Amino acid sequence: MGKKIRVGALVSGGGTNLQAIIDARRRGAIDADLVFVGSDNPGAYGLERAEQHGIPTFRVDYPAVMRAFRQGLEEARLPEDFRLDDLRAKQTIFPPSVDPQKVDAFLTTRTVAEALLLKAMQPFPFDLLVLAGFMRNLTPYFIDRVNPDRAHPRIMNIHPALLPAFPGTDGYGDTFRYGCKVGGCTVHFVDYGEDSGPIIGQRAFAIHEEDTLETVRRRGLEQEWQLYPECIQLFAEGRLKTVRMRHEQPGGRVFERTVVKVLPNRR
Ligand code: GRF
Repeated sequence: MGKKIRVGALVSGGGTNLQAIIDARRRGAIDADLVFVGSDNPGAYGLERAEQHGIPTFRVDYPAVMRAFRQGLEEARLPEDFRLDDLRAKQTIFPPSVDPQKVDAFLTTRTVAEALLLKAMQPFPFDLLVLAGFMRNLTPYFIDRVNPDRAHPRIMNIHPALLPAFPGTDGYGDTFRYGCKVGGCTVHFVDYGEDSGPIIGQRAFAIHEEDTLETVRRRGLEQEWQLYPECIQLFAEGRLKTVRMRHEQPGGRVFERTVVKVLPNRR
């Protein structure tokens, strides 16, 4: 085992992925220490899991914060360095067809909550932030402050589908309802879009006719619990490098794609 990286996690719910990371840490499978677990949902069971393992926790109650902001209360204010134009220009969660007022309301209220998240995270320096069932889209305000160096993204997410298929909150449900023969999960770096960042790792599994949404979800989660610690360990070993690759096709057509390269293990 090499030097340990410091990992912070954000959860919204049950936290089985968080548990898989805690377990991987305990059996020495990842060179990582969990330095905090935060949540937008004060009742998230993931927070209890963290507390059972002595990991510091904090809560930023998103609905309560957004309510307080609308009421103009002191504790929920926009940070001084909030620049709506900059966030509008960067965000790719909403396509241009969406009502700009809706986009502005989203960016504004979310930033208020994210500023509190950043404040709560401040006492805990970290190398990597993992979203482990964190069910809120992040704005560029938060992302830029966690990723000051754009060449080295350090927010990871796990998504319950083979991206770019079925982004959003119900990947297994969408996969199952579509009638897919294969489902999967994806770990990716977070960018300014919804579930759209560079892909680090994916796992696929077969879906059979006799399957139910529950069996599909269960099979998927079992893959997630293996995949997420593996990707965290690649990050800990300094083996993930996000690159733009240029490809020239026989007819001369050129295209580019973003790839997360997995470098050889030099240890
Ligand atoms: C997982 O399927 C994850 O991919 C998705 O939300 C679910 C959360 O599960 N983002 P848990 O809270 O880790 O149990």
